[in-house]
Formats: sequence, structure tokens, C-alpha cells
Amino acid sequence: MLLTIADDYHDLSRQAAQRAADLLKVSPAAAVIVATGETPMGMYRELAALKQRGEVDTSRLRIFQLDEYLGVGDDDARSLYGWMKRSFLDPLEIRAEQVVRLRGDASDPSEECSAFDRAIEETGGLDLAILGLGMNGHLGFNEPPSDHELPSRVVALTPESIGGSARYCGSADAVPRRALTAGMKQLMAAKHSLLLVSGERKQSILKRTLEGAVSPEVPSSYLQRVADATVLADQDAARALDSARG
Ligand code: F6R
Repeated sequence: MLLTIADDYHDLSRQAAQRAADLLKVSPAAAVIVATGETPMGMYRELAALKQRGEVDTSRLRIFQLDEYLGVGDDDARSLYGWMKRSFLDPLEIRAEQVVRLRGDASDPSEECSAFDRAIEETGGLDLAILGLGMNGHLGFNEPPSDHELPSRVVALTPESIGGSARYCGSADAVPRRALTAGMKQLMAAKHSLLLVSGERKQSILKRTLEGAVSPEVPSSYLQRVADATVLADQDAARALDSARG
């Protein structure tokens, strides 16, 4: 695992977009799994600008949805797919048929997760995972405790994640209590991953992710064992790290 410290959020977003663009130049038909949340929004805007300038070709990409709230359909304002569509798919002109979904309103959510894993397997595994870091160390909605072998599945959200999602759903009461998530197993097997971490409030969980024990209690800590994972953190998030102190 590699750590890169960016000057600030803008620099982090620019560097993340450039890394993704470099990878997509080499692998224009890559399988990419895409987070929502606040952190990657700057990266997606930068990627869209690169696409506008003709520096990224998205026409052959295969995109995988990272997670979704259980029971939430596409028309629901809380839908993570809706957020991904507005922030990533539409600006990058990615067509619906290029996307493998985790549908929150699937009639059999467990089968939806199994089919998702089969689709990842059939495509030869994920080439790139674009991830954000939860305040409790979750990746996607792999809530603690989650070990590195867990497949995609339906999970119960922890109070910490419910609190974290409250600002996106209007209130904590409006946050669904369960979700579908891509599995740790599928994420850890990605050929490249980019974990984006920004802001002072992530200092402590970033430190546990990079410098703490590798443990299901901090799912993101498994990235320590992944050679091709890059953690891109801004100075505000990285300040408490031993490596940032030189
Ligand atoms: C979103 C997701 C979550 C977020 C994480 C960080 O699809 O899977 O794991 O990436 O909660 O969220 P932000 O970036 O809003 O701090």
C-alpha cells in the first residue's frame, strides 16, 4: 500500500482524477467500482473535465455500484445510485448498459448481491476501486466488524454510519437501517484501489487504517496488505500520521 499526501482537497481531487485517467488510458475497458459520499465529488468533477478535453474515453468502461440502501428505489432522493448517476455516470457519459447495479429495491436482495459478485467474477475482477473512508473504517458499507473474506451482502448499518448518512438523507430517522454493499473480498481483490481521505475529521480513522492493527474492527485496515492500493489523503486528514511527521 502506498500513501500520497496532497496539499489540500483540490490537489487530492486533481491527483486522483489523473491517476484514474492514466489507468483508463492503459485499460479503456476497465471494470471500475465507484463510491458516492462527499470525498470523491471533486475527483469526479476533475475526471469530467478531462473527458471534456478528450483525455479520457469512458465508452467501454464497465462500472459497478459500490453500495445502496435497502428498500430504496431509483426515484428516492436518498438513492446512492441516483447520486452516482448525477455525479459520475452522467458527466462522464456512461450509459446504463455499462453499469452493474446493486438495486436497493430488488425483490431478492441477497440474490442481487450474489449476482453482483458473479458479474465481477465474469468480468475478471475489478480493475479499479474508487473508495471513501467511513468514520468507523467502513469501505462501501462493510461495517465493522468485517473481515477481508466477506462477499457482497445485505448489512445492518452501525449507529455511526446512520449518523454519517443523516446529512445526505435529511435526518438520522430518514436513513435506512440496512444496505447492500460490495464485499470486502471483491474490493480487496481489485487490481488497483484508490482510497480518498479528506479533512480533519478523518485524522483518527486514517491513522487507525494505516498504522493500527489489521482487524475486522477497522475494515479499511486490510488495505495495509494490498500492494496496489493507494491512499490519497490531504494534509488535514494526514496530519496525525507518523509518516506525515517525517
Ligand atoms: C459511499 C460509501 C461510503 C463513503 C464513506 C465516506 O458510496 O460507500 O463508504 O465512501 O462513508 O463518506 P464521505 O466521503 O461522505 O466522508
